Amino acid sequence: MSETETLLLGQVLDIHANPFEAPPEEAARHERRGAVLLRGSAIVETGPAEKLQKAHPRAQVIDHGDALILPGFVDSHAHYPQTAIIASWGKRLIDWLNSYTFPEEMRFGDPEYAAEIANRYLDLLLAHGTTSVASFCTIHPASVNAFFEAAAARNMAVAAGRTCMDRNAPDGLRDDAQSAYDESKALLERWHGRGRGIYAITPRFSPTSTPEQLEALGSLWSEHPDCPMQTHLSEQTDEVEWVRELYPCKRDYLDTYEAHGLLGPGAMFGHAIWLTDNERARLRASGAALIHCPTSNTFIGSGIFDTARAMGEGQIVGLATDTGGGSNFSMLHTMAAAYEIGQLAGAALHPAQLLWLATEGSARAMRAEGRIGTLRPGTDADLVVLDLASTPAIAQRVARAETIWEAVFPTIMMGDDRAIASVYIAGERYDALVPGGDGGGHSRKLHPLISDSLGL
Ligand code: GUN
Ligand code: ZN
Repeated sequence: MSETETLLLGQVLDIHANPFEAPPEEAARHERRGAVLLRGSAIVETGPAEKLQKAHPRAQVIDHGDALILPGFVDSHAHYPQTAIIASWGKRLIDWLNSYTFPEEMRFGDPEYAAEIANRYLDLLLAHGTTSVASFCTIHPASVNAFFEAAAARNMAVAAGRTCMDRNAPDGLRDDAQSAYDESKALLERWHGRGRGIYAITPRFSPTSTPEQLEALGSLWSEHPDCPMQTHLSEQTDEVEWVRELYPCKRDYLDTYEAHGLLGPGAMFGHAIWLTDNERARLRASGAALIHCPTSNTFIGSGIFDTARAMGEGQIVGLATDTGGGSNFSMLHTMAAAYEIGQLAGAALHPAQLLWLATEGSARAMRAEGRIGTLRPGTDADLVVLDLASTPAIAQRVARAETIWEAVFPTIMMGDDRAIASVYIAGERYDALVPGGDGGGHSRKLHPLISDSLGL
């Protein structure tokens, strides 16, 4: 049986090479009037619209006009249970966890509440053009089940796992080494590889795990090495000092993971700001990924992550919101923050580099670049379509643009969910949800899942 062919027309920007390794302008191909050919759930080909239309006269055509077709955004570090406490005022990391995060996470033992937030969160992601995410859940298996079920209902490729903590957390949010192992294993067996789901082994961070718990999770990872492992590393200086006190025999923060089998390909370390040269060298050699969370690093006051330095060292780097320590669900906003932090660190990141980090960079960090994050033939058709003139402020700037980079950069810096004209998940279209209007003037039919969960 032949599968349906669909041709999406619009501007197409294919960043086919790593723009930190090749000159950014050479790493990308832009078609002013381009096309992406889909067959079923997969991308088959990209190229000039005229050529692809001639070659595929029977394909269904969806014309996005002047809008820009890109791979969907990939958020490689987030906490979906923190959706309802995003933008909570005035605390730094440890106080922020104790004041806002832990009380909210306590609520996720209730499967109904977990399902409500998981559905709300994934709809917010789609409305912001994010098609994949690696998310922490809470300690409760119900929070993991709710998240994978909500993702499966939208056919989204997500990675997620039960967040393990056996010390320095309140009653009701602590497990122990054995139960962390047992419950993580049961959830992994249930969800890993089911549909588009990936189970991520998830110790929260060394301050909330005993060495025994890290050891148990290291064993679980050695039994399932194709799973990613996600945690936090060296986010704030107070935290690094605390880890030194909690683990006096370890040479540094990274060693608290390394010594327990939690360093290697597929490890994703959120933040990774306050690293020694030696830690940087071991991270690089191990094939682990550093996840840059720029809105969180400014919002909670953590510090400056030097993206250009990390890429220059050959680190694997993903880009992420870190919802709700991060202050925005939007990967556009996150790219803007990465640009500004790059300026503070001494390097102006090119729009191709920002877009690459938000798509293939994050997909590589999740070891999923063969499936998501690019326009490569054979990968899943998870796409975002950007309106490059979504507000009067952006439109008046774009009117002066002479290159695609000048046309897309104002949307990176000033865009929000109004810039999302459409998203496609595995070839299926979900129109963007733009509160209060139809944004770029595209026809908008809300997917029933989106309208239901937001009560529209
Ligand atoms: N470190 C440990 N847990 C967290 C968390 O939930 N958010 C952030 N930003 N850092 C953490
Ligand atoms: Zn985090």
